[in-house]
Amino acid sequence: MDLTKKIKVAVLATGITLALAGAATATMHAVTKDSAFCGTCHVMDNYMGSWSHSSHREVAGCNDCHTDQRNYLAKTYSKATAGARHAYVNIIGPPDHLKMIPSSKEVTQRNCLRCHDDLVEKTRLAESDGNYCFDCHRSTPHGRERPST
Ligand code: HEC
Ligand code: HEC
Ligand code: HEC
Ligand code: HEC
Repeated sequence: MDLTKKIKVAVLATGITLALAGAATATMHAVTKDSAFCGTCHVMDNYMGSWSHSSHREVAGCNDCHTDQRNYLAKTYSKATAGARHAYVNIIGPPDHLKMIPSSKEVTQRNCLRCHDDLVEKTRLAESDGNYCFDCHRSTPHGRERPST
């Protein structure tokens, strides 16, 4: 093969690889977008049940609160890292009670603000000493029946 041909083959191969990676990412998002997907594992501590009876059921699915929604890259990163961790811990044996890791809290907080910015603007809730919305709104949307540990 001469050099130009080699370059053409390399460009083509890179193109195909990127297209496949893109398609795989799109498939990953399609598979994981419904709350029912999360429910295949999160039957413990009644996360599905509490959410499906909450005022957010029609307006916000699991991913609307728990996945980084800033842009496609952030969304992909957030799902890939959380997904890999949840799947891994699911195999080695989940803890009795789940707790959000610090980065998930930041993601969730940003999502509260994303949808409730009107209200937050009006009331300056965002400035309440750096509290998370869910420090006060603890039962949004999973209710109070969860174990506190
Ligand atoms: C309206 C936003 C919102 C939606 C929608 C939502 N969650 Fe949550 N989720 C939260 C908040 C806030 C917490 C943290 C509550 C706390 O710390 O008291 C949480 C906590 C969790 C936790 C970790 C346990 C903990 O107490 O920290 C899991 C697991 C979870 N949610 C799963 C789900 C699943 C599965 C769905 C969809 C069926 C879902 N969530 C939908 C806001 C949401
Ligand atoms: C393969 C099973 C499985 C699936 C599917 C799954 N999870 Fe999890 N999830 C787990 C396990 C196991 C843990 C405990 C991880 C730990 O303790 O580090 C967990 C922990 C969590 C937590 C608390 C820890 C954190 O990451 O902050 C949240 C919130 C959560 N899951 C939300 C979701 C959402 C939203 C979906 C759907 C997009 C989902 N999970 C799909 C098994 C799963
Ligand atoms: C995808 C958009 C979206 C996200 C994300 C979201 N909300 Fe909401 N929320 C709404 C809408 C829309 C309503 C009005 C629902 C209704 O009245 O039926 C609502 C209602 C509420 C209410 C009043 C009803 C109730 O359940 O007490 C509170 C409080 C609230 N949200 C807090 C939060 C908090 C805290 C978070 C983050 C953990 C959050 N929301 C995330 C869209 C969202
Ligand atoms: C210091 C505690 C506190 C913090 C922090 C807080 N809230 Fe509230 N919030 C309240 C109280 C108290 C009410 C009025 C009583 C109620 O409806 O639960 C309220 C009411 C609301 C309502 C209207 C509820 C309804 O029934 O119409 C929404 C929506 C809401 N908060 C969202 C948020 C969001 C989003 C954040 C984060 C930016 C936040 N709150 C942070 C205490 C707090």
